[in-house]
Amino acid sequence: MKAVAIQTFGRPEGLAVIDLPIPVPEAGQVLVAVEAIGVGGVDAVIRRGAVSAYGFREGHILGSEVAGTVTSVGDDVDPSWVGRRVWAFTGLSGGYAEHAIAPVEKIVPLPPNLSATDAVTLGSSGMVAHFALAHAHFAPGESVLVRGAAGGIGIMIVQLAARADAGAVAVTTSSADRGDRLLKLGATRVLDRSGDGDAHEGYDVIIDIVAGAAMPSFFDKLNPNGRLVAVGIVAGQPPEDFGAKMLAAFRKSLSFATFSADTVPGPDQRAVQIDQFAAAERGELQMVVHEVLPLEEAVLAHRKMDDGAVFGRIALTP
Ligand SMILES: NC(=O)c1ccc[n+]([C@@H]2O[C@H](COP(=O)([O-])OP(=O)(O)OC[C@H]3O[C@@H](n4cnc5c(N)ncnc54)[C@H](OP(=O)(O)O)[C@@H]3O)[C@@H](O)[C@H]2O)c1
Repeated sequence: MKAVAIQTFGRPEGLAVIDLPIPVPEAGQVLVAVEAIGVGGVDAVIRRGAVSAYGFREGHILGSEVAGTVTSVGDDVDPSWVGRRVWAFTGLSGGYAEHAIAPVEKIVPLPPNLSATDAVTLGSSGMVAHFALAHAHFAPGESVLVRGAAGGIGIMIVQLAARADAGAVAVTTSSADRGDRLLKLGATRVLDRSGDGDAHEGYDVIIDIVAGAAMPSFFDKLNPNGRLVAVGIVAGQPPEDFGAKMLAAFRKSLSFATFSADTVPGPDQRAVQIDQFAAAERGELQMVVHEVLPLEEAVLAHRKMDDGAVFGRIALTP
């Protein structure tokens, strides 16, 4: 089968199409014949070598979410999964391939009218968005700022916050055109990447997908008792002394937290995904598919991500 591996960490051109045997599911696993692969910001972070602490090596097959049909199952897995269309989380590897392995507890059945590309656009992003807001203790009526709203996760946070009656949903983004698109998805204010362009006094919750050098400046935008939750590091790690900025605002009782979906129990993730897939099928959530490209064009997909040209998600199809 065809798969896409990292031959050299760094630039998109370090990705290569290789030929591999079709994997065989072990106990507790299923094999999925892949219809669509979600290309996430996390794939770019891994490819750049920005998370070397995780021990990724050359030859790593990128990709963490796919949608397709279960074609075989390992020992002790209910054989009635075979033939069912599912969304599947493959971990931090193995998704950019014609056939992918996933643990059975990480697959979610798809409703009949949800396409595979929509499923991989919503699957992980929607779940992360839901639990990031919950981790921030977001409550209806509170104001939310989404930093880095134009990606898969940000677009879902905007929609979920708006549906949950946020008092305001502000977004940072790099262009007026993107701002207009985010307004149509539920945002109520558009800021530039540095957070300027806003007369609003502050936010109860900031969900930060960007991090990087500018992250501490966003503490100034929090209301008293405000919470900033870091969900991604699209612009790299924040400065090591970022906590000093919060201590300087001691009397505002601010909170900072990181959020990783890894800490959310699998059954809770699954329950939210089943709900979100159903909501998507009913047309209550919008999936923003930037482009669908063949698997062989993974380099192009990553160039587009590195160029900042992607609004929403790219999906690859084998
Ligand atoms: N916490 C979890 O459980 C979890 C799960 C999956 C992924 N992640 C993390 O989430 C991140 C990817 O999320 P994603 O796919 O939604 O994001 P993304 O599409 O990679 O980026 C989101 C947006 O950030 C803006 N941006 C890019 N570079 C920037 C910079 N230097 N400064 C300011 N803004 C910048 C861009 O929008 P504009 O050009 O419009 O500004 C971009 O569309 C990764 O860091 C990944 O590790 C976390």
